Amino acid sequence: MKYLSRIALVVLSLILALPVLSARELHVVPQPAYMDIAAEGEIVVTPKTTIVVVDELWNPAEQFAADMQEYFDAEKPMRTSKRGKGIKIRLDKFVPAEGYEMTVSEEEGILIIGGSEAGVYYGLQTLRQIIITNDGKVPYGFIADEPAFAYRGAHLDVSRHFFSVEDVKRYIDILAAHKLNRLHWHLTDDQGWRIEIKAYPELTEKGAMRKETLIGHGLEPKWWDGEPYGGYYTQEEIRDVVAYAAKRYVTIIPEIEMPGHSQAALHALPWLGCNEQEVDVWTMWGVTPEVLCAGKETTYEFLENVLKEVIELFPSELIHIGGDECPKDRWKECEHCQAMMKAQGLEHEEQLQGYLVARIEKFLIANGRRMIGWDEILDGGVTDTATVMSWRGLKAGIYAAERGNDVVMTPMTLCYLNFYQTKSQEGEGLQIGGYIPFEMIYAWDPYEGVSDDAKKHIIGVQCNMWSEYLKTMSWVEKMLLPRLAAMAEIQWANERRDAESIRPRMNTFRKFYDACGWNYAPYYFEGRE
Ligand code: ACM
Ligand code: ZN
Repeated sequence: MKYLSRIALVVLSLILALPVLSARELHVVPQPAYMDIAAEGEIVVTPKTTIVVVDELWNPAEQFAADMQEYFDAEKPMRTSKRGKGIKIRLDKFVPAEGYEMTVSEEEGILIIGGSEAGVYYGLQTLRQIIITNDGKVPYGFIADEPAFAYRGAHLDVSRHFFSVEDVKRYIDILAAHKLNRLHWHLTDDQGWRIEIKAYPELTEKGAMRKETLIGHGLEPKWWDGEPYGGYYTQEEIRDVVAYAAKRYVTIIPEIEMPGHSQAALHALPWLGCNEQEVDVWTMWGVTPEVLCAGKETTYEFLENVLKEVIELFPSELIHIGGDECPKDRWKECEHCQAMMKAQGLEHEEQLQGYLVARIEKFLIANGRRMIGWDEILDGGVTDTATVMSWRGLKAGIYAAERGNDVVMTPMTLCYLNFYQTKSQEGEGLQIGGYIPFEMIYAWDPYEGVSDDAKKHIIGVQCNMWSEYLKTMSWVEKMLLPRLAAMAEIQWANERRDAESIRPRMNTFRKFYDACGWNYAPYYFEGRE
């Protein structure tokens, strides 16, 4: 807020120098922290406009030029140059790290000052929205902006259905345009292992393919499609996606599920299980009793070898180890698991999971990374350094934040964007269930129930996209949009959110979706609940 009061002073002098303020409005999503639009005067941006690059900000300039080329359907991207007039971008250490200031005036032209490259990129995203929703006209005025949360995430499940490299890049484009900065990539699960691991080629040779896919909610045989289904990313493809995301200031957090949700790995490498029985890559949705054995040293060796390669591929400080929904039936009957419990002085199987998670966390820390996991990592006794993803509600997140762990809030009832968007479900296709309309997300306060002292541990908010019933990126987009806009308002603007203006802003903002060619659900715009 200190920063914003400084801005307020600067702006006050600017306003006094400007003609009378009018009701000229710009519809930007998420809502900028501060926006003042002059009554008159504007700059028209065309494909011929130059981007003047100071401080070696070539990447944000090139990203913007490419986005604009697509919008203008121009032969060439906008010119970037170290000198000249046009859209000038530069850095200033007084601007918050991911924040920016945009001045549009006769003297300055369009000037965007960022606290970092990412800040400049977000300033250019705001400019892109203004250009697209306002017919290329950028009114004179001043915008100062910064994010409410450092962690602004969206998740994508590529196990239940697989999405190509091109699809994932498209997903990243959508996140970046909403000023999100984390993609949580759910790469492994019971229904398919999707990341090449050189030490264990069987994981993708065998574990990436399932016999068929469950297409109904019912369990009768007729509800499976009978079609073999699979896919995975080579390490080269993973590197390509990571680099693509980084250019859009999105960090990819890879998730390797353990010790539950691992049936695809168990199919590939049966020795990872307690009883070493052969199992199929799973063709059901839900929770399977087949889990990794937590008693055998070979399991830990496997997990560390996999994570070593994952660490090489992903620069993200946080590495997601899953940890959710692990039934303990097999462990109760396993001599290795029982022997490990005895050796470690553990009384029940939940503590054995706590032991596995703590041991993996130690490994990650020794390798310069930090662990994040679903909130079940709290059940077996959590360490002080783990980051907790609160999905079963808010309670686990509140508990973790109060005890000093960092938390990402992603409660199922508000953040699972694979849930239905309308009560009637008409036109929504078969989905997994639930009901989360745009307004429900928008009304949510992620700090609810958190003490003032613990608020600093709520590092962010995330929406999740589980893909059991989402076969194509087009369907994913329809589930994501426009609800991601509500999510982004929380992530970027939170307490500055403006419930009064969100509907008119969205009505303009949909032009941006149209221009980008993204599929979005019509329900919110139709007023359908
Ligand atoms: C989860 O939805 N099982 C994290
Ligand atoms: Zn076991």
